[in-house]
Amino acid sequence: KFLRPVKNWTSPVQLNFSLTLYEIIGVNEKTHVITTYFWLREIWRNEFITWDPAEFGGLYQVSLPVDNIWVPDLYVYEFVEEDLSPQIPYLYINNTGEIRHTKPLRIVSSCNLDIFYFPFDIQICSLSFGPYLHTVKDITMVLHHTPELITATSKYHIQNKGEWELINIEAYVTEFKGEGETKKYEDLLFSLKIKRRPLLYLVNLVIPSTFLMVIDLLSFYLPIHETDRGTFKMTLLLGYTMFLLIMNDLLPNNAGGTPIIGIYFSVCLALMVISLLETIFITNILHQTCSRRQKVPKILRKITMKFIAKMICYVPMQIPENTEEKAHRKKRLVQVKKYNDCNESILVDSEVSEDYRVQEDGLQLSKNLQSLNAIHQFLKKISGDLFMIQHSINSHSEYNQKQGEWIKIAYIWDCLLFRIYLIFLSSFSVSIVTCWCMWYKQ
Ligand SMILES: *[C@@H]1O[C@H](CO)[C@@H](O)[C@H](O)[C@H]1NC(C)=O
Ligand SMILES: *[C@@H]1O[C@H](CO)[C@@H](O)[C@H](O)[C@H]1NC(C)=O
Repeated sequence: KFLRPVKNWTSPVQLNFSLTLYEIIGVNEKTHVITTYFWLREIWRNEFITWDPAEFGGLYQVSLPVDNIWVPDLYVYEFVEEDLSPQIPYLYINNTGEIRHTKPLRIVSSCNLDIFYFPFDIQICSLSFGPYLHTVKDITMVLHHTPELITATSKYHIQNKGEWELINIEAYVTEFKGEGETKKYEDLLFSLKIKRRPLLYLVNLVIPSTFLMVIDLLSFYLPIHETDRGTFKMTLLLGYTMFLLIMNDLLPNNAGGTPIIGIYFSVCLALMVISLLETIFITNILHQTCSRRQKVPKILRKITMKFIAKMICYVPMQIPENTEEKAHRKKRLVQVKKYNDCNESILVDSEVSEDYRVQEDGLQLSKNLQSLNAIHQFLKKISGDLFMIQHSINSHSEYNQKQGEWIKIAYIWDCLLFRIYLIFLSSFSVSIVTCWCMWYKQ
């Protein structure tokens, strides 16, 4: 049990080795640890245990307790946690001394994870199996099955359709020298190539975020001077922040770097903030008429009307509500004028009739005169009031005209900023999508 099972000490033990990946249990992006479950198969020869089956009634193989026999000190160099795999207490030995030892192994190994392309990432993790102590002179490692066969059987045996999908397993024998030593060690290097299934992350992270962005984009079509776009955008921003808080657990946290999707979320948030700021700016322009500065500054008007309007091909549309109001106002003014004229004519009429009455009825003259005077006073008052109303209407129309100008300027600026925003957003999304696509096609 204590000796290497070879008759001539100079010859090494040949260890045939193979494995089957049974399950990828988990990948921890934070600690760079991958947990996998394997079935191992080791085959070697014990030259001391041989028998003739004819002497033992045709017995070809027996099982023996593992503890009573020499076994190679196989080790996985990437182990970062205690080996918690179940111990299989027996192994098979046949009449030529060939020993087959199969066992399950749960491997918690370190792996350098690159999450830049999350959730479309492909990880390559390597596992090296080899004797911990024995050098090449004592134990040589041989691959029992071809890598293609190992990949095929692993794919066949992986039961769960979890987050990770196996692409392939490559295997080769490597030799390395210890530091400052002349001894050579040999081991078998398996590199697992696994791919993440991105659907979960697409549905939970990318699509809701895209929806919110689209709503933010479409909210530019809310007319600024009628609806409270600022409040709407603020609500949207709040919703997005909540979404990020909730979905933060799904994102891999890695000190090594930020994945593209993290940048995507940050830029989305930034764009929402920018669009809110834009709305505040436009609202400020709109409410300039309410503040002391009533007239549009000449420079602003010149810049806006000449350069920006040309740049965005702005067709100077009349704000429909405004023209309607104007027409209505004109009508009203005409009506008021007519009314005034009418009053005057009535006044003249009454004076004429007064003359007749003077001739007709002398007695009622004083009485009539009194009442006429009263009517005259009354009409005068009315006409004064009407003048006041006309004046106020005029000033109001002036105010409205100024406001209309401000609204126009606000619309032009809004249009310009919206286009800039649109260009930025579309170029950003196109670049992200192409980045993912190119990586995924590889
Ligand atoms: C052991 O093997 C070496 C080389 O393989 C050989 O030269 C030597 O004679 C062998 N010794 C015995 C005792 O068989
Ligand atoms: C070990 O593997 C090699 C190469 O695959 C094969 O030729 C040899 O027969 C195997 N040995 C045993 C004992 O199965």
